Formats: sequence, structure tokens, C-alpha cells
Amino acid sequence: MSKLKAAVFASGAGSNFQAIIEARDLACEIVLLICDKQNAGVIEIAKKHQISTFVFNAKEFASKQAYEEKIISELRKKEVSWIFLAGYMRIVGSTLLQAFPGKIVNIHPSLLPNFPGKDAIAQAYQAGVNKTGVTVHYIDEGIDTGPIIAQESVAVFSKDTEEALKKKIQEVEHQLYPSVINQLLQTK
Ligand code: GRF
Repeated sequence: MSKLKAAVFASGAGSNFQAIIEARDLACEIVLLICDKQNAGVIEIAKKHQISTFVFNAKEFASKQAYEEKIISELRKKEVSWIFLAGYMRIVGSTLLQAFPGKIVNIHPSLLPNFPGKDAIAQAYQAGVNKTGVTVHYIDEGIDTGPIIAQESVAVFSKDTEEALKKKIQEVEHQLYPSVINQLLQTK
């Protein structure tokens, strides 16, 4: 039986994208990278792994609806059924949400509902918490507000620099995301 097809949406360096595509025994095939930043590092990773990319500039479209319709047509061409956001720095709109109900998942570097939005690691570090972590959740129209699928905590020690904390969180992300993807696909 051929594997389900999925796309990753990313805007940045792409370490989570890389962890997903290099994961052993991933239950789906990543057939497309969607990226909104021309020079994002993640594009190079896709090229290296011969994964198709669709790179767009939101400013060239009249509206969020217009660029999301274009994205949907790219996803349909590749027969994508799941979408995994990995550092995609845009709020997903109703056009995409309605086209893929219950099939869009995100990873966020905090224990939601704590520290939603940008710079979650810095927010947690500056707040002086002794525990933060990683959340994988479904997407809704809010910012990091959709139903939580899985969380893993990361201890913050007083000797930790912000950089060290970021590294610990990324290590957790790179294990957690592929494993949650597999759990999701096995139960659906
Ligand atoms: C990750 O920390 C992810 O949780 C957040 O954005 C970051 C992306 O990093 N949503 P990378 O591009 O995968 O390295």
C-alpha cells in the first residue's frame, strides 16, 4: 500500500523539516515543501532531498485567500492529505482550514497555552520558569490555540543560557514531531 502524502509548511531554517524527512519509518511521504520566504534555509534542505517546493511571496497576491487558493491547488496536484507546519510564520486562514479540516498540525516551542506567538523560547526564558517544553497541536484560526495533541516538557536550570535552552527544546522537537505524526496517521 502506498503511503499517505503530506506537505510541510516552513519559513525558516528548517531543522524540523529535516528531522521529519530524515525520520526512520515515517508513516507518510513528504511530497511538498511550502515556503513563504525566498531565501529560507529550508529550501536548500528540500532541494538536497529532492522534495518539490512551492515558494511564494504573499505580497504578490491580492489577499490571504488568493495565496491560500494557490497553495491548495499545489497541494491537490501532489495529492496531499496532511499538512505539518514547522516554523511557518503566517496565520493559516479559513480558506486553507476549510480545505483540510482536522488535517493541519503545528509544532510550538512552549507548553501551550503558556507563551504562544513569536519568540516563545525567549519569552519562557525571560519569565524565569523552571519548566517549558514543546507542544504539537491542531491548527485553528487563532495563534497557537488549537486542540493539543502532545506535549513534552523540558527543564530549565539556572545555569542554562537561552541558547542552551533553545538547543534542548529543538532536540525534543526533532524527536517528538515525527513520532506524533506517526501516531496520528496510524489512528486516522
Ligand atoms: C521551531 O521551534 C518550531 O517549534 C516553531 O518554529 C521553529 C522552527 O524552527 N514553530 P526550524 O525552522 O524547524 O529550525
